[in-house]
Amino acid sequence: MSKQKAAITAVAGFVPEDKLTNFDLEKMVETSDEWIYSRTGIRERRILKKGLGLSYMGEKAVSKLLEKSGTDPKEVDLIICATITGDYVFPDSANQIALKVGATNAFGFDISAACSGFLYALHTGSKFIETGTYKKVIIVGGDVMSSIIDYTDRTTCVIFGDGLGAVLLEAHDDYGIIDAELKADGSGVDFLVARAGGSRKPTSQETLDSREHLVYQNGGPVFKRAVQGMSSTVKEVMGRNGLTNDDVTWVVPHQANMRIINTVASQLDFPLEKVMNNIELLGNTTAGTLPLCINEYESQLRPGDKIILTAFGGGFTWGSIYLTWAYDGSLQS
Ligand code: UT7
Repeated sequence: MSKQKAAITAVAGFVPEDKLTNFDLEKMVETSDEWIYSRTGIRERRILKKGLGLSYMGEKAVSKLLEKSGTDPKEVDLIICATITGDYVFPDSANQIALKVGATNAFGFDISAACSGFLYALHTGSKFIETGTYKKVIIVGGDVMSSIIDYTDRTTCVIFGDGLGAVLLEAHDDYGIIDAELKADGSGVDFLVARAGGSRKPTSQETLDSREHLVYQNGGPVFKRAVQGMSSTVKEVMGRNGLTNDDVTWVVPHQANMRIINTVASQLDFPLEKVMNNIELLGNTTAGTLPLCINEYESQLRPGDKIILTAFGGGFTWGSIYLTWAYDGSLQS
């Protein structure tokens, strides 16, 4: 008898109403709609109103998730929240979301793995289902990147936006998470980092003046490592599971740059019709991109669809997860 799989049985997302377009950015830094769109594929991103915080988006998405799946919040055992922009330095945001949605029997914790956070959280959460420890686990991925972006730095401010997605994991006999290949390389800290605001360099007037509490990225090397890291781990999980390109229904790549997505697709020889993307209108929402993509494409998903999620981000962290889809997405509203 094969063991029970951890299947995604519902998905929901939330993006704030306020838009920041390329034309808005033209007024803020020396850039152009033409440069941004041709170099990244992004036209606009969403920005959360100040003072709301990550758990506001978490509450919206998880409430929708519970409603869609007909789940009583009191049945939820665990909430894992992947984010680098929680409401507070501490405590975690998973338990703030649990409080807001009335998941009074759940415990939660956050995972900090930047753009790969959703993959890390999904892999972790799946183990609690596979072992039979818990019945209902919610995986949240999202970020309020506008809270840590330097809007005077044209190399980073044009990429990132705010948004969050969530999935419900439950046991399933046939479909669910099959395999994962997760990687990390701590030397990536030199290329993608918020240098201040942590214990190594606590926030001070000096760090505020030097803007070191905001995102710093050396984009070129990150671009190359992202292509290599996503392509190689997709190949690894496909090889291990005997999958050909024809077998795979969808590839869901992290949405950092449309040129990265196109290069990964071309290196793997996947037609773009099989590759999910939503970067044009949302930008890079860090831990939010994968669940938001799945949410957007839900109506096209069918039981047994073979899906590969892949991401690369700060740390460096990267990896791929292979799963089979568990329900008919066209029947969801
Ligand atoms: O999600 C987490 C992981 N992050 C990523 O995967 C992001 C990876 N990196 C990237 O997506 C790209 O490297 C960027 C979008 C960040 C930058 O694109 P690029 O094609 O690598 O540009 P570049 O950094 O090589 O810069 C090319 C030129 C430079 O000017 P010079 O030195 O050639 O005169 C930049 O100063 O473009 C300039 N530039 C801009 N010009 C107009 C950089 N940003 C902008 C801008 N508008 N916003």
